Amino acid sequence: MNPLNHVAIIMDGNGRWGLKYKKSRNAGHKAGLRTVEKIIKESINKKLKYLTLYAFSTENWKRPKQEINFLFSLLENFLINKLDKLHKKNIKLKIIGIKNFSSKLNKLLIKAEKKTDKNSKLQINLALNYGSKIEIINAIKKLNKSKKKITEKNLTNFFQTKDIPDPDLLIRTGNTKRLSNFLLWQLAYSEIFFEKKLWPAFTERDFNKIIKEFKKIKRNFGNI
Ligand code: IPE
Ligand code: IPE
Ligand code: MG
Repeated sequence: MNPLNHVAIIMDGNGRWGLKYKKSRNAGHKAGLRTVEKIIKESINKKLKYLTLYAFSTENWKRPKQEINFLFSLLENFLINKLDKLHKKNIKLKIIGIKNFSSKLNKLLIKAEKKTDKNSKLQINLALNYGSKIEIINAIKKLNKSKKKITEKNLTNFFQTKDIPDPDLLIRTGNTKRLSNFLLWQLAYSEIFFEKKLWPAFTERDFNKIIKEFKKIKRNFGNI
């Protein structure tokens, strides 16, 4: 049975779910947030150490302004209303991605990270304005400036994920089989599950079914 420490999720399908059931993409984002809460709870039940959630990519800025604004207002409200609860549950929140949002949101994010920094039950890495290619480019620039030797370890020490072990398992919901610029380096040896269900329809049961399958896989890491 494989140990499971770190699950990364591409939470895709909110817009399609919203259009189908509520005639609005934004309603899908709202429903998607309820799935986030369920999966956080279940991650604690499953004794995961890290849960990385792809919430907004560097490419998602291409979307209509009203959708982007709605997404960030959802996040702001979530942080305002749920931070204490997360903290009480001993959850650590870390943002990966470039924090160049409104000053109100930047402040909320920094406050949330600071408040939960010493927590140790589950670390949630929220990938926000995250893009793997820019992360790699920025790390190369820093490594170059540092004059250190070009090695795997020295390079990844400049990644935003530097203190986080690579994901054991990647799940993408929403019936699409691509990585969309998510953790390209870190997923080199992760087990990948593509789930047909749209994110708002994804349940604890679906999550547990995937975990059960994951545990049975023979992971080789190049060995036999
Ligand atoms: C994923 O759902 C959430 C974000 C990118 C913020 P989508 O909004 O991409 O939903 P679909 O793929 O359009 O259905
Ligand atoms: C990936 O979903 C990003 C997030 C879930 C945050 P997208 O819906 O943006 O991916 P593409 O554009 O379909 O590849
Ligand atoms: Mg999508």
